[in-house]
Amino acid sequence: MLEKIQETAAFIRERMPAQPTTAIVLGTGLGRLTEEIDVDVEINYSDIPNFPVSTVQGHKGRLLFGRLGGKDIMAMQGRFHFYEGYDMKQVTFPIRVMRELGIKTLFVSNASGGMNPDFSIGDLMIIRDHINLFPEHPLHGPNIPYGPRFPDMHEAYDKQLIAMAETIADELGIKVQKGVYVGVQGPTFETPSEYRCYHILGGDAVGMSTVPEVIVARHCGIRVFGISVITDLGVEGKPVEVSHEEVQLAADAAQPLMTAIMRELIIRAS
Ligand code: HPA
Repeated sequence: MLEKIQETAAFIRERMPAQPTTAIVLGTGLGRLTEEIDVDVEINYSDIPNFPVSTVQGHKGRLLFGRLGGKDIMAMQGRFHFYEGYDMKQVTFPIRVMRELGIKTLFVSNASGGMNPDFSIGDLMIIRDHINLFPEHPLHGPNIPYGPRFPDMHEAYDKQLIAMAETIADELGIKVQKGVYVGVQGPTFETPSEYRCYHILGGDAVGMSTVPEVIVARHCGIRVFGISVITDLGVEGKPVEVSHEEVQLAADAAQPLMTAIMRELIIRAS
């Protein structure tokens, strides 16, 4: 495993135009951030040794290297989801490669269903913590010596970055929520009872990504900031049907706000 990570990192390092310490996973809601990146180098996932092979035909996964607001960054355009059939080692493989490449801070985004009755569709939620309900743990198996066998998760999401993001949102006049993200395997959306259950457990929003990547990043000592766009609601007593199309539409509408906060945060944080 370690050898594969190092082999992949060596391949990428040879092609890197600079040494970024910041990486971004361009999940739902952040696709348009790419338009603001001065891209120097693009590498298709399919050309990277040991990278998971995309299960979706025509899926354009690639790594980008360039500058955002003058700052060197590395970005993943497209991530690997557990529901697609990847195992957790594959889902989180790029994060370990990031660690090997010298990344110190990771920014992630996603779409989620809100369970907090104060939330509305289109809200942005800064992730302040998560609950891991995936059926397989990304650190299962022999410990990779990037971190301890039993990593602490008290501050999975960096408090300083959260405070900075709140200040930026305030300055930009953008309303943000803050809450707990519940990570589940999908691909079904939740039943009304499951939304209720996750809310009782302490969750504010639920989605099918992010948690595995964040756990592995923290194990590697990478600090993390995460933000979620609430694309549908599973609030008790108000069950509404949800579709992938609606999720996309809500995420697209919130995109400019999420992009504005992330852009500014990435530039200021370091
Ligand atoms: N549940 C799980 N994942 C999601 C949801 C949801 O309601 N919305 C967007 N991603």
